[in-house]
Amino acid sequence: MNLPLSTEFHTENSAISDFRTEVLKGLNSHPKKLSSKYFYDKTGDQIFQKIMQMPEYYLTKCELDIFQNKTKEIADNIIINNSPFDLIELGAGDAMKSSFLIEYLVQNGVEFNYMPIDISGNILSVLNDKLSQKVPDLSIIPLEGEYFDMLNKATEISTRRKVVLFLGGNIGNMDKEESSHFCRELRRKLNPGDLVLMGFDLMKHPQIILDAYNDDAGITAQFNLNLLVRINRELEADFDVLQFQHYQTYDPLTGACKSYLVSMTEQKVHIGNNEFAFEENEAIDMEVSQKFSPSDIDKLAKESGYYVLKEIRDSKNWFVDSIWQV
Ligand SMILES: C[S@@+](CC[C@H](N)C(=O)[O-])C[C@H]1O[C@@H](n2cnc3c(N)ncnc32)[C@H](O)[C@@H]1O
Repeated sequence: MNLPLSTEFHTENSAISDFRTEVLKGLNSHPKKLSSKYFYDKTGDQIFQKIMQMPEYYLTKCELDIFQNKTKEIADNIIINNSPFDLIELGAGDAMKSSFLIEYLVQNGVEFNYMPIDISGNILSVLNDKLSQKVPDLSIIPLEGEYFDMLNKATEISTRRKVVLFLGGNIGNMDKEESSHFCRELRRKLNPGDLVLMGFDLMKHPQIILDAYNDDAGITAQFNLNLLVRINRELEADFDVLQFQHYQTYDPLTGACKSYLVSMTEQKVHIGNNEFAFEENEAIDMEVSQKFSPSDIDKLAKESGYYVLKEIRDSKNWFVDSIWQV
């Protein structure tokens, strides 16, 4: 059964107004900051699909290795006494990896609804078209909006036990304080016995990590700069995109891989009636992609009130999908 995308809780206007508020707040702060959750308009979704295919971007390949080759192991850990459940995927994107698990569950007659949540309505329709063809018997309920708003909606739609997927290192797009707050908030919204399967990119040789976010073809640069193009289009702004340059760093001590856009000159940018002054070489903080040690993951799970049921790693030992129980 295919249900229509849910947009009733997050209308076009409220989405634009949240976007404007966050952009203005971020550019008024010191240092200037933009939220990477806004990378994903239609062009951003397409650029991210190119990123996932880049030879340097190992994250997708590693997690795909887990979902393609350890599907049964994942399924055995989330199926409990054949009780029906809701498989909720936060920031589902195009479900490239989870589709292998979904197909396996359907083929094995497991009773579940799939509820992909994403802030990008565009990628949800790509996902919906793809899965309707690949797994026609799937019960899919796409939910367009912010993680927790849509998780609330999912719990209103169904009272089944929940299995929440949060893949691709999405948790890494939060700094340590945010990720710990996020995991605690997620636990508050779930019931005892519910499960969370979270993807973590492990610390590895610093050059491998830096190369994944600093590709020679400049695709990651385009991905970052596209947010300025989006702000120009949707918020009546006048960023001169050619006057900003992508700059990437990785700190092997903290595990923080960070993207910046650097102003190439002293310049002024307008967003509606607001004016922002940039110094030459001033940086906008665009995104963090946090890397984890095994003990970081353990600590995060325990401090946020979960029990670690199982850890499943890829064949290179570069990435882990950790299954937690509330
Ligand atoms: C890095 S992509 C990863 C996609 C997918 N999980 C994967 O592993 O391939 C992040 C996805 O999360 C979505 N996203 C980011 N922040 C979000 C938020 N606050 N609420 C809902 N979706 C969000 C984006 O639109 C995008 O599709």
